[in-house]
Amino acid sequence: MAHQTVTIVGQGYVGLPLAQAATRSGWKVHGLDVTESLVDMLNSGRSHVDDLSDSEIQEMLDLGYVATTDSAVIAESDVVVMCVPTPLAEGGSPDLAAVKGASRTVGDNLTAGTTVILESTTYPGTTDNLVRPILELASGLAAGEDFNLAYSPERVDPGSKTFGIKNTPKLIGGIDDASTQSAAAFYRTFVDKPVPMTGTREAETAKLLENTFRHVNIALVNEMTKFCKELDIDIWEVIRGASTKPFGFMKFTPGPGVGGHCIPIDPNYLSYEVRNQLGYPFRFVELAQEINNSMPRYVVDRVSELLNEHRKPINGSDILLLGVTYKADIADQRESPAKPVAELLLERGANVMFHDPMVDVWNLESGDITREADLEDSVVKADAVVVLQAHDTYDLGGLASKSKVMLDTRGSAPKPAIWL
Ligand SMILES: NC(=O)c1ccc[n+]([C@@H]2O[C@H](COP(=O)([O-])OP(=O)(O)OC[C@H]3O[C@@H](n4cnc5c(N)ncnc54)[C@H](O)[C@@H]3O)[C@@H](O)[C@H]2O)c1
Repeated sequence: MAHQTVTIVGQGYVGLPLAQAATRSGWKVHGLDVTESLVDMLNSGRSHVDDLSDSEIQEMLDLGYVATTDSAVIAESDVVVMCVPTPLAEGGSPDLAAVKGASRTVGDNLTAGTTVILESTTYPGTTDNLVRPILELASGLAAGEDFNLAYSPERVDPGSKTFGIKNTPKLIGGIDDASTQSAAAFYRTFVDKPVPMTGTREAETAKLLENTFRHVNIALVNEMTKFCKELDIDIWEVIRGASTKPFGFMKFTPGPGVGGHCIPIDPNYLSYEVRNQLGYPFRFVELAQEINNSMPRYVVDRVSELLNEHRKPINGSDILLLGVTYKADIADQRESPAKPVAELLLERGANVMFHDPMVDVWNLESGDITREADLEDSVVKADAVVVLQAHDTYDLGGLASKSKVMLDTRGSAPKPAIWL
């Protein structure tokens, strides 16, 4: 495909890195978003996502990238990619308002010959049953005849230094062969390996299988962590041993629960649709949720046990939480299990303190807390230190030796730290 013009709808964690990849490979990129303040920020050369620096935004602008709220750019685009949020509504059902809104905007401005791609994570059938009719009704054009339509899930691993857009294979499932081919031709301009799929539903479900796989396997080690502790078996040593098997095993490690925009949310899209269409539960997802959601309470119980050994109650103790984002070395706090850990400690009367190099003020339900100014001083002062994210910048060995007691939920800190 000759490099022409692409509009990327949604300039968040997914849409902005995609805009960067397309810009760098020679596309004229319009970054369309509904949030005016974000558009202004990007056009002034400032980034709002971890994986892109301000200088990289400036580089994009120099190469012709423009952020905009003006949907008229869609009409002059050869390709339109939708990267809008797919959160959960109250009660845990999928909230597709942004996908519907973006589809309407695209449909209102769609011209014949365009290739439209949905990247948002969603339940099987969304591209064909929800996006397609909205596009067709709003544009008066027919998918498969007048324009191409495909689904291609985003697989970005925020903060990864190994895998990015270029070297992560990209699944592409069109409503017909021409749509698959056209979307693959777009991605081939900056992705090493586009992977054509037989249809949109298969591509949508593949993404959900990937995330459910992680969710379930994290739950498996979390559940084993609890009973291994009671059986006086070192789970970390168990995992280290099992990980030496060169085939048929993949390493997952225990932790304080699952966070981020994907793992705690996406599997719900699949279980919701299975229940909705077939009337029965997707049991693996429901069980994984139950186990992973129980981990913050388990962490707090372990803190309580450790303090007890020092003849202290949680009530009135100073407890320092290290790393409150959902993943090490990124600033994203969405769905971070650090929040329920803090709320449970507060409920039990603890004086909760926190440190995170990427968070200045932490917004908890019960009020905001400010980051401890001096990390070492606060480690010395705290009755217990809990490592929730082992950010690279932490010298966990040094901190562990200064602490009264350190519980490490990530298995990163050397002794005297105690692992979950
Ligand atoms: N963040 C990740 O690591 C990740 C990884 C893989 C897949 N995904 C999926 O990608 C999708 C996008 O996620 P994200 O993390 O980039 O979300 P985000 O919240 O970071 O960004 C979404 C952007 O879309 C904009 N937006 C909302 N409605 C719009 C509309 N109607 N028109 C134009 N812009 C609109 C918002 O203002 C926001 O800037 C979701 O479905 C998510 O599940 C995310």
